[in-house]
Amino acid sequence: MEYALVLITSYLIGSIPNGLIIGRKFYKIDLRQFGSKNIGATNAYRTLGPAPAFWVFVTDALKGVAGVLLGHYIGGTALAELSGGIGAIAGHNWSVFLMFKGGRGVATGLGVIAMIAPKVTFIVFVVWALIVYFTRYVSLASIIAALLVPITMWLLHIRHEFFYFGLLAALFVIVRHRPNIERLLQGTESKIKAGGQSEP
Ligand code: G3P
Repeated sequence: MEYALVLITSYLIGSIPNGLIIGRKFYKIDLRQFGSKNIGATNAYRTLGPAPAFWVFVTDALKGVAGVLLGHYIGGTALAELSGGIGAIAGHNWSVFLMFKGGRGVATGLGVIAMIAPKVTFIVFVVWALIVYFTRYVSLASIIAALLVPITMWLLHIRHEFFYFGLLAALFVIVRHRPNIERLLQGTESKIKAGGQSEP
């Protein structure tokens, strides 16, 4: 019962489309109509610039943090924390407020792993940042970072529930990057540029 409560509540929290809200409220722009049409921080950066992207990233990451905290205080077990985390990522990716569409789950996932495995978060973030720096493909960096989460957890002998969570979270993130994967294979994925614009 507690797990169901954690899962449903964190799913609802994860469903809050921060990128859409920030874009509409402060810039009168629906991010779903610009750039990659995604509601995440990368498309906010591409379409609106660094400051709104920062706030989209922070508020999306906080949904992951909230999911884990909810599990911690309601369920009190590692499994409850992970249920809260996975609920938040699922809500972000398949939002109940957006007809089960949504984002890619990267910032929210980062918020979750920052809470449960800070060392893994640090390693994965450094790799993500290096890939973005050298390739300018945020999506490629996110996909590789998602794959690295369970791999790093396994290499660092992090408890096995966390490893299985990492696998599921990576799957959630990669599935939502399908359009990016297609564009990367076709050579049409946009590269991120300093200042917020992209190039094809
Ligand atoms: O975190 C999302 C990023 O990996 C890709 O975003 O807007 O290029 O689809 P976008």
